[in-house]
Order: sequence, then structure tokens, then C-alpha cells
Amino acid sequence: MKYLTKKEKLLVCISILLLVSCNNTKQCDLPATVTYKEHITTAIETNCFMCHAEDVYKEKASRYKIYNYEHLKKSAQSGQLIGSITHAQGYIAMPYRKGVKIDSCTIELIKKWVVTGMQQ
Ligand code: HEC
Repeated sequence: MKYLTKKEKLLVCISILLLVSCNNTKQCDLPATVTYKEHITTAIETNCFMCHAEDVYKEKASRYKIYNYEHLKKSAQSGQLIGSITHAQGYIAMPYRKGVKIDSCTIELIKKWVVTGMQQ
């Protein structure tokens, strides 16, 4: 087999890196400004309200409150919101006992909302 020159090896490495990173990062079409009212309520209602809605959370989510802006903001500030949806160590993975994460772009959306100051 013919040996590759240093330059060729470097090119191969770069191509592999690019391929890997392209496959891993799904392009998310995130809004320029993420607000609770416009984007986050829908995301939480769709993915979490079966257990965390105001009328069911006491029985279904061990009383953990994320059903309105104030409560969700508190959860975000404590790190629990992002910790739980990214299945980070030290947090209880959400959605509870489903073993799967919510859509990766929805996670990115929620992360963006948190890092941009949890706008209402
Ligand atoms: C199938 C029901 C269910 C769904 C769906 C669900 N949760 Fe939960 N959630 C729970 C339960 C039950 C607990 C309390 C767990 C405990 O204390 O043992 C909880 C606790 C939490 C906590 C506290 C975690 C911690 O580390 O203490 C957060 C944050 C949370 N939920 C966020 C969410 C978010 C955000 C979603 C939607 C993406 C969601 N949950 C979806 C049932 C659910």
C-alpha cells in the first residue's frame, strides 16, 4: 500500500472530522429571540404537560411545578430544567422514565431561552 504524505493524512483527518460533526449536529432553525409566550409554552405543553400541567402535576409529577412562567424560570435558574431534559448526571431524566430525550432542536430552543435570560 502506498503511504500517504503528511498533507494527505491531514486532509483525511479533516474530512472525517467534518463528516462526524455534520452528522451529529442537526441544524436547528431557532428563532432570533426566544420567548416564553411565543415558543416555550408550546414546547413544555407538548412534551411535559401530560405530567406537569397545573391540574395533574400533584399526582403525576411529584408536585414538581413548571406549569407557568414563574415556576419554569425557577426550574431553569436552579439548573434542573436543562439538567433533566439533557439527561445530565445528578438530575432526574425527563420525560420521566421514558428513556428518551425530547427532540434535540426543542432542547436547543429551551437552552437558548435560558441563556438569553428567560424572556417572558
Ligand atoms: C411521564 C410523566 C412526566 C413527563 C412527561 C415529564 N415529567 Fe418531569 N417529572 C415527573 C416526575 C414523576 C417527577 C418527580 C421525580 C422525582 O422526584 O422522583 C418530575 C420531576 C421533574 C423535574 C425535577 C428533576 C430533578 O432533578 O429533581 C424537572 C426539572 C422536570 N420534571 C421537568 C420536566 C420537563 C421539562 C418535562 C418535559 C420535557 C417533563 N418534566 C416531563 C414526571 C414527568
